[in-house]
Amino acid sequence: MEDELIGIKNAALTFILEAIDPKELEETKLQFLGKSGKLTLAIKEISSVPKEKRKEIGMLANEVKQTIEQTIKDQEQVLSKQKKSNLIEKIDVTNPGIKPALGHLHLITQAIDEITQIFEHLGFNRVRYSEVDWDYYAFTALNFPKDHPARDEWETFFIKSQENPKNGKMVLIPHTSSGQIREMERVKPPIRMLNIAKCYRRQSDVSHTPMFHQFEGLVIDKNISITHLKGTLEYFVKSYFGEKRKSRIRPYHFQFTEPSFEVDVSCGVCLGIGCKLCKAGWLEMGGAGMVHPSVLKAGGIDSKEYTGFAFGWGVERVLMMKEDMEIDDLRLLYSNDLRFLEQF
Ligand code: PHE
Repeated sequence: MEDELIGIKNAALTFILEAIDPKELEETKLQFLGKSGKLTLAIKEISSVPKEKRKEIGMLANEVKQTIEQTIKDQEQVLSKQKKSNLIEKIDVTNPGIKPALGHLHLITQAIDEITQIFEHLGFNRVRYSEVDWDYYAFTALNFPKDHPARDEWETFFIKSQENPKNGKMVLIPHTSSGQIREMERVKPPIRMLNIAKCYRRQSDVSHTPMFHQFEGLVIDKNISITHLKGTLEYFVKSYFGEKRKSRIRPYHFQFTEPSFEVDVSCGVCLGIGCKLCKAGWLEMGGAGMVHPSVLKAGGIDSKEYTGFAFGWGVERVLMMKEDMEIDDLRLLYSNDLRFLEQF
C-alpha cells in the first residue's frame, strides 16, 4: 500500500509538471483526485489495511494528496505567467512609441544665454560674482559714504554675521555693481566684464520680485568715452529687441558713476508713439554712466590713465520689454506653474 501511494504521487507529479495548458492540468487533476481518480480509490482501500498500520498509511495518503494539490496550484501559476509573456510577444513593435514629455530651459536662463552671446560678440568676458558679499563691495567701494541713506534706498537684505572692520556687514547683493570692484581686483585693464547674477531687494509687486537678475557691464581702458557706452547700448538694443527699436540715455544720479544716466528703449508696441504700456513711447531698462574716479581708485586703477563706463540692466525687465512677451505679472516667472512656462 505504501509503495502504491508513493507511485501515485510520482506519477501525478510528472503529469502535472509536463502539462502545457490549463486544460491538460485539469484532466490530470481529475485523473488523480477526481471521484474515481487513482488517489481517491487508493484512499478508499485504507479501510482494509490491518489496524496497526492504518494510521501510518492514512498520514502518508494525506501527505501525498497535499503534495499533489500544491503542485497543481504552482503549475497553474506558471502557466498563467507564460500566458502573459506570450501576450507581450504579440505587441506590434512597429507601432509608434510613446514620446516622453520634453522640457525646455527656463525663460530667464534662455534670456541670460542670449544676452551673454550678444556681449561676447563685443568681446565682453562673462563672469558671475557672489550673491552674498560685503557691504564694502556693494556700497562703500562704490563711493557711498558711510551711513549714506542709499543703503536703505536699495532696500538691502543684511545677513546676520560678524562685522568685518574693513568690509562691514554681509549683504545679499542688491545690484551686480558689487562685481565692478571684484573684477578690478582680479584683473588689470583693459577690462570688458559682463557680470550676470541674482540680486535681492525687499520688494514684491507685479513688476518686482525679491530675487531678480541683473547684467552688469564694465569697460575700462584708455580713452573710453560716453560714445562707447552709447554704441554698446545701441548694439545690444538692436540685437536683442530687433532693428525697429531705438535707445536713448537720460541724465540721472548714481553714486558710482559720473555723469550718470538712465537708459530707455523705445516701446515695442507703439514704436515710440506713446501708448498705454509705456511712458510717452519709452520703457526704462536700467542705469549706466562713466565710472566715478573714486571707484577706479578703490579698484586700484589710476583714473588719470584710464576711464570707463558701466551699466546695470534687469534680465527680467528686458525679457518683459520684448514686444511679443506679454507677461503682465513678473512673479509668474517664479511661480513654477507649467501652464505658464509651457507657453514659451
Ligand atoms: N546698480 C544700479 C542699479 O541697480 C545700476 C547701474 C549700474 C547704474 C552701473 C550705473 C552703472 O540700479
